[in-house]
Amino acid sequence: MNPVDWLVRILLLFFLSHLSFSADTITIDHFIKDGKVIVSGGKIFALGFFSPGSSRNRYVGIWYNQVSEKTVVWVANREKPLDDSSGILSIDSRGNLALFQRNQAHPVWSTNVSITGTGNSIAQLLDSGNLVLLQNDSRRAVLWQSFDYPTNTMLPFMKLGLSFKTGLNRFLTSWKSPDDPGIGDFSYRIDPSGFPQLSLYKGSALWWRSGTWTGQRWSGVPEMTRNYIFNVSFVNTDDEVSITYGVTNASIITRMITNETGIQERFTWSNQARKWIGFWSAPKEQCDLYGHCGPNGCCNPDNSDRFECTCFPGFEPKSPQEWYIRNGAGGCVRKGNVSATCRNGEGFVKVARVKVPNTSAARVDMSLGLKRCEEKCLRDCSCVAYAGAYYESKGGIGCLTWHGDLVDARTYTAAGQDLYIRVDADELARYTKKGPLQKKGVLAVIIVSAAVVFLIVVAFLSWLVRRKRRGNRRQSRNPFSFAGSSSLIEDSVDGKDIEESRRNADLPFFDLSTIAAATNNFSSDNKLGQGGFGTVYKGLLFNRKEIAVKRLSKHSGQGVEEFKNEIVLIAKLQHRNLVRILGCCIEGEEKLLIYEYLPNKSLDSIIFDETKRSSLDWKKRIEIICGVARGILYLHQDSRLRIIHRDLKASNVLLDAAMNPKISDFGMARIFGGDQIEGNTNRVVGTYGYMSPEYAMEGHFSMKSDVYSFGVLLLEIITGRKNSDDYPDSPSSNLVGHVWELWKHDRAMEVVDSTLGDSCPANEFLKCIQIGLLCVQEHATDRPTMSTVVFMLGNETVLAPPKQPAFIMKKARKGDETWSSEGTSSVNDVTVTMVQAR
Ligand SMILES: *[C@@H]1O[C@H](CO)[C@@H](O)[C@H](O)[C@H]1NC(C)=O
Ligand SMILES: *[C@@H]1O[C@H](CO)[C@@H](O)[C@H](O)[C@H]1NC(C)=O
Ligand SMILES: *[C@@H]1O[C@H](CO)[C@@H](O)[C@H](O)[C@H]1NC(C)=O
Ligand SMILES: *[C@@H]1O[C@H](CO)[C@@H](O)[C@H](O)[C@H]1NC(C)=O
Ligand SMILES: *[C@@H]1O[C@H](CO)[C@@H](O)[C@H](O)[C@H]1NC(C)=O
Ligand SMILES: *[C@@H]1O[C@H](CO)[C@@H](O)[C@H](O)[C@H]1NC(C)=O
Ligand SMILES: *[C@@H]1O[C@H](CO)[C@@H](O)[C@H](O)[C@H]1NC(C)=O
Repeated sequence: MNPVDWLVRILLLFFLSHLSFSADTITIDHFIKDGKVIVSGGKIFALGFFSPGSSRNRYVGIWYNQVSEKTVVWVANREKPLDDSSGILSIDSRGNLALFQRNQAHPVWSTNVSITGTGNSIAQLLDSGNLVLLQNDSRRAVLWQSFDYPTNTMLPFMKLGLSFKTGLNRFLTSWKSPDDPGIGDFSYRIDPSGFPQLSLYKGSALWWRSGTWTGQRWSGVPEMTRNYIFNVSFVNTDDEVSITYGVTNASIITRMITNETGIQERFTWSNQARKWIGFWSAPKEQCDLYGHCGPNGCCNPDNSDRFECTCFPGFEPKSPQEWYIRNGAGGCVRKGNVSATCRNGEGFVKVARVKVPNTSAARVDMSLGLKRCEEKCLRDCSCVAYAGAYYESKGGIGCLTWHGDLVDARTYTAAGQDLYIRVDADELARYTKKGPLQKKGVLAVIIVSAAVVFLIVVAFLSWLVRRKRRGNRRQSRNPFSFAGSSSLIEDSVDGKDIEESRRNADLPFFDLSTIAAATNNFSSDNKLGQGGFGTVYKGLLFNRKEIAVKRLSKHSGQGVEEFKNEIVLIAKLQHRNLVRILGCCIEGEEKLLIYEYLPNKSLDSIIFDETKRSSLDWKKRIEIICGVARGILYLHQDSRLRIIHRDLKASNVLLDAAMNPKISDFGMARIFGGDQIEGNTNRVVGTYGYMSPEYAMEGHFSMKSDVYSFGVLLLEIITGRKNSDDYPDSPSSNLVGHVWELWKHDRAMEVVDSTLGDSCPANEFLKCIQIGLLCVQEHATDRPTMSTVVFMLGNETVLAPPKQPAFIMKKARKGDETWSSEGTSSVNDVTVTMVQAR
C-alpha cells in the first residue's frame, strides 16, 4: 500500500469516527477529558467537568447549556472530588460509565451496575437532563440513569420516591456547601409508612413535612394549585410510591432544590431578567417547623400577638409554665391527665383548615367514606382522631385514623382539611350546642323550644358570669369550629361558658406581669408620651412584637365590668385608618390598653416641624387627609357602634411605617363618660382650637362637631401651621380666621405651605381650602357630613361657597375668662350619649 492510500484511509477513519458518534454520547472509544463537554441533542443540557464555587476540586456534573448563570443539576462524584484536571470519563471494559484519574488503576466513580456481555454499552445525555447508560443493541435497554440517583435538584419528569420492586429510593440531598457538592444535612424524601408523606429531614430528624397527598396537592403546600405550568402525578400502589412534576410547556426551565440551610425551593429561569426567579419555598414560618407545638398541640400562625400554639380540644398544656413563656415544644396532654378510654357519650370536635398530624403511624382504609370512618374510629378505643385521606378529589375519599399522639398539626387561613378529634362527653358539650338534637325524628317544634331554652340559659349564664367573674387570666386560644356547624368558637383552657370565650375572641386579656415585662416595668425609658387619659409606653412582647401600652390614670371612676364591656365593643372597630387595639389588662387598680405600635409617631410631630414637614409632599398630604376622613366616617357611620371622637387633632393621628394615618384615642371619650372627667383639671375633652362653637359653648356635640375638628386639621395639614399660632397680619388671630380672611379676598394661595414647592397644584389646594372652610362653618347644620366630605375629596364636584366660620365665636367672646386660659380647657356636664350600639 502506498503512502497516499494510507493517508486516505486514516483521513476516512477519522472522518467516520466523528460521524458515527454524536456529541451527546460517550462510548468506549469516545470519552471526554477534563475541559471537554458533551451536549444533549437539543442543546439543553451539558455534561463535563467543573469546580463548584471557590473550590479548586474537579467534579463531573450536568448543567444547563443555555442558562447564562452556570447551574449544576447533578454531580457524579459528589463524595470523591478529583484534585487535578487529569480526569477522564469513559465506558470501562465491563460496560459501566466510569471516572478515571491519571495513574490510578481503579475508577474514582462508576455507575457500577452488572452488565451481561461487555463493551457494547453507551452513555447518552438526554434533553431532560437525564444521563442514561444504554445497552447498544436493538432493545437499547436502560442499564442505569442519573435520574435514579438525584443530588440536590429535582428536574421536570424526574421521579422522587420508592420502588418496592427494585428497592430503589430516590430522594434529594442538599450539598454540604456551595463549594462542596458532597452529601449535606438535609434530605427530601417520601416516607411510605402509615399513609405516605413527603418530608424534609435534617439528618434523621424530621424538619418539615410537605405532608400527605390530598388529591391535587401536598397538605403542607397550600400554595400548590392546578396551573398552566405543572402537571403533578402521585403514584401510590403496591409497586411504588412516587411523585413526578411535569411541565406542560417544554420551553419552561424550572427546577426544585433542597438547599444547604434546609430550605426546599423552586426556581424558574427568566429569559428577560436573565436570572433564576424564586417561585416557592418552604418551610416559611415557625408553624412549618416539625412538631413546633409538641404532641397534641396545634400551631396557628394567625394567633397574631398571642402564642401560636394551642392544645387540641380535650387537651391542656403539659407544662403550663413552659407554655406561658411561649415554649410549646412540650405539647399537650389529656385534660385531667387521663388517657383516652371508651366512655359513654363520646364524640368528635371538628378542627377546620388543618394540615393533618404526622401520618407515619396513622392507619388508612381507602374503602371507607367519612361517615363510616367516624363510626370506625368511635368503635376503636385507641383511635384519637380521624380525617379524610384524599379530600380534594371526589369530595373526600378514604379514612385516616390516628392512634397515638397527634404531632405536627397546624392550621391555615384558607387551606387544609377537617380533622375530627375524639373528646369525652363533658368536652363535647362545650363544643356542641345541638349535639343530641341532631338525631333523626326530633320534631322541629322541639328544636325551636330547645333553642329558646338554650338561649335563655346562655343569657342567664353570661349574666351570672359577668356579675361574678373577677379573674382575668386567660390562656391562648385558637379557632375551633362546632362539629357540624360552620361557626367558629374559641377554645379557652379554663373557659366555662361559650359566650364568654366568644367575646374574648375579639380581645385578649393580658396579664399585668406580661405587660410589665414588655415595658421594662413601665420604665421611663419606654415612655412614648403623655396623653389625656394616661401615659403611653412602648413595649416588646415575648414574640418580639412591638406594642404601645396606654396606662390609664387610676381614678377613672368606671367599674371594671363596664370598662371591659366597652373595651370589647371598641375592639370590634377595625379600620385601616384606626389604630388597632390588641388587648387590655385589668388587675386591681391598673387598667391598661394595648395597641399596635406605630413607628412614625403622631402627625403633629411632623407637620409642625420645619424640616420634617418637607418629607410630606402634596400627594401624601392628600392621602393622609383622605385616610383621616375615612376613619372618621367609619366611626360615625359604618362601624357597629356610632362613635363621636370629640378630640380629633394632629397629635391624635398616628402614622405607620408607610405614613398611613391612623386615628387614635377613639372611644376614649366613651370609656370616660363626661361625668367622670369632672375635677380632673389636667384633662381636656376636646382641645381648644379644634372644638366647634356649640360644643365649646354649650357642651353640645354631634357628628358635626367632629366635622369641625376635621376641618381645622385639614387646614393645618395643607398649610403646615397650627391653628393656635399667632397670625399678627390678620385681624382674626387663629388659622381658621386667617384663612377665611384671605379666602374672602381671593388670596388663599398665600397660605400654601412653602415647603410644598411645585408639588402642589393651585386648583387642588383651593379645593381643599374650600372643603376645610365648609367644615368649620359656624352653624352645625351648614357643615357637610363626613360622607359628603369623603365624596368631595374624592370627586370633581361643584362646591358650595363656605359661610362665615366659627372663629367669630371666639373673637366675640374674647376676654371671657373661660376661653383665654392657656391652650386647653375643660368642659363639664357633658351628658350627651356618644356611643349608640346599633
Ligand atoms: C461497586 O460495587 C461493589 C459491590 O456492590 C463495591 O464493592 C465496589 O466498591 C463498587 N465500586 C465502585 C467504584 O463504587
Ligand atoms: C453499537 O452497535 C452497533 C451495531 O451493533 C455497532 O456497529 C457499534 O460499533 C456499537 N457501538 C459501540 C460503541 O459499541
Ligand atoms: C404532563 O403533561 C404532559 C403533556 O400533556 C405529558 O407529556 C406528561 O407526561 C405529563 N407529566 C406528568 C408527570 O403527568
Ligand atoms: C411555550 O412557551 C413559549 C415561551 O414562553 C411560548 O412562546 C410558546 O407559545 C409556548 N407553547 C405552548 C404550546 O404553549
Ligand atoms: C437557602 O434558601 C434560602 C431561601 O431562599 C436562602 O435564604 C439561603 O441563603 C439559602 N442557603 C444557601 C446556603 O444558599
Ligand atoms: C400524668 O400521669 C403520668 C403517670 O400516669 C405522670 O408520670 C405525669 O407526670 C402526669 N402528668 C401531669 C401533667 O400531671
Ligand atoms: C413521625 O414521623 C417520623 C418519620 O416519618 C417517625 O419517625 C416518627 O416516629 C413519627 N412520630 C409520631 C409521633 O408518629
